[in-house]
Amino acid sequence: MSNYHIKNLEEYYQVYRKSVQEPGDFWGEVAEEHFLWHKQWDQVLEYDFSLPMVKWFDGAQLNITENCIDRHLLTKGDQTAILFEPNDPTEAAQHITYQELHERVNQLANVLKSQGVQKGDRVCIYLPMIPELTISLLACARIGAVHSVVFAGFSSMALASRINDSTCKIVITSDGSFRGKKTIDLKSIVDEAVSTCPCVDQVLVVKRINSDIVMQEGRDQWLQPLLDKASKVCAPEIMEAEDPLFILYTSGSTGMPKGMVHTTAGYMVYTAYTFKNVFQYKANEVYWCTADIGWITGHSYIVYGPLANGATTLMFEGVPSYPDYSRFWEIIEKHKVNQFYTAPTAIRALSKESLSYVEKHDLSSLKVLGTVGEPINEDAWHWYNDNIGKKKCPIIDTWWQTETGGVMISPIPFSTPTKPTYATLPMPGIQACLMDAEGLPITTSPAEGNLCIEFPWPSMARTIWGNHQRYKDTYFSAYPDKYFTGDGALRDEVGYYRITGRVDDVIIVSGHNLGTAPIEDAINEHPAVAESAIVGFPHDIKGNALYGYVILKETGTTRLHDNLRKEINQIITEHVGPIAKLDTIQFTEGLPKTRSGKIMRRILRKIACKEMSNLGDTSTLLNPEIIDSIIEGRLG
Ligand code: WT7
Repeated sequence: MSNYHIKNLEEYYQVYRKSVQEPGDFWGEVAEEHFLWHKQWDQVLEYDFSLPMVKWFDGAQLNITENCIDRHLLTKGDQTAILFEPNDPTEAAQHITYQELHERVNQLANVLKSQGVQKGDRVCIYLPMIPELTISLLACARIGAVHSVVFAGFSSMALASRINDSTCKIVITSDGSFRGKKTIDLKSIVDEAVSTCPCVDQVLVVKRINSDIVMQEGRDQWLQPLLDKASKVCAPEIMEAEDPLFILYTSGSTGMPKGMVHTTAGYMVYTAYTFKNVFQYKANEVYWCTADIGWITGHSYIVYGPLANGATTLMFEGVPSYPDYSRFWEIIEKHKVNQFYTAPTAIRALSKESLSYVEKHDLSSLKVLGTVGEPINEDAWHWYNDNIGKKKCPIIDTWWQTETGGVMISPIPFSTPTKPTYATLPMPGIQACLMDAEGLPITTSPAEGNLCIEFPWPSMARTIWGNHQRYKDTYFSAYPDKYFTGDGALRDEVGYYRITGRVDDVIIVSGHNLGTAPIEDAINEHPAVAESAIVGFPHDIKGNALYGYVILKETGTTRLHDNLRKEINQIITEHVGPIAKLDTIQFTEGLPKTRSGKIMRRILRKIACKEMSNLGDTSTLLNPEIIDSIIEGRLG
């Protein structure tokens, strides 16, 4: 039996037991047998959740790109590493071999060096889903620079605040992006952002859409001419195990997005390990994850996990609806995809379209189907199982988070019997537990409670960039000595977990994690708005949609409410991005508040969901009378 590759349920239980009883030995063996190190660690794990402090493989030295690229060259140099499928189906797909990836990563690494980027410097990457995006991440890792990828759907203000928070000195972007029928002018978004970022002195621009853009003298440079001059050899920077690899921002329930810091060795070991087991990937197969690399799913399971296993990882530039709703299925047939990983929101959207889009394609190459990002409802699960997997492909409902770095709870296909809507069992090394309302662990099953993790795992985020206190407060304060996930969960009699959703003020819309605070801050910027509160309510396709309660400064204003609604969504688009637009806006005279001035979102959530009969305890409200008027507005 190998710790690294689990092949049946009995092995899973054996491996799991070992990972809990002897975590140091377990992860030490995995790390030693499957990766390339320049120096061994002194200790596998050192930790103290009360600080919190977590160190994996401390003392070891490595470079993650050697593990993801160089070590495959001898055996897989000519195998496709990145299979790029462009937005336009008539444009040829690109097969980038491990050899070519090696050269291109090294060239870009040399360009970054020549532009003054050094180990530890932060590099912001704002690119569409093109090969240069993956190559940029790896080029940073090659020279020990810390990448901070910002999803290219975020607005210039959202981009600027992320650049400034981690003081990136350089931005890599493109002249634009293709998205279905549309093109998006990314460069002007960057221009606007960078005008408020004193830390940035350079912008490198990839040519993708051939648009006419303005290049600012002394700051902006086209990337290609620099690459053409760069050497294809770049010695990897030798990194310490706990050196930061990247920063990735995620929404919190309050304040500025949190720059989660992931470090090198533990992240590498865990993403590689989970990729192998969760997808049961075998040599020469084609794996496709439809996420954007701007999210953690893309970092861990398009780039690092697959490449660390020498896999062929497909990158898709476009959208599922272009040129029509058969695009995903067409790509699966065209490239004979074996493992397919997507989000419930995509499944729900595609299941609403005619089945003929699916039926005209041969999906027989598929072996494993995955989902991630939000709870998958029973209907979507069955549609996926029946029509895409033809009941032959296990569905792995993978639960995890930006903060966890890798998959935490998931079936292991062909080993764990699946159960619709259940993420099932924790991965080896993951000690999940449920906490009751009194803050005590629930030891019996079935049960429902708040989901925590009791023990460190290798790919956990180590801190929030520049704010360790916030890291402690957010994740390690609700329950002493436990990592609190922010999610609620059920556990059935055999120990399977079902994630029920966020228990904090984070709302998941179409699989995107949105904090209420930045959206409310944006709305409050509107000159007519006094105050606002956002809650989520169930939506057929998006999972949740956003419902906004808005108090205007002047009541009885003569301005048309419909115009105001448009303007409010416009402001949200500018400050956060189009993904955060509100579906419904209700103007109200007040918001239910506690005596300490906190908005009682629980009540607003119920009203948005039209569950007025059971509003729960309202006795602590300062202004209980407001509720009737809000209900009237909701129904009226
Ligand atoms: C939140 C984390 C992990 C990559 C994508 C999201 C929700 C994630 C599931 C799932 C139910 C899920 C949780 C979690 N979530 N996967 N399989 N079932 N909920 O990363 O943006 O950091 O969001 O997504 O609520 O806390 P993220």
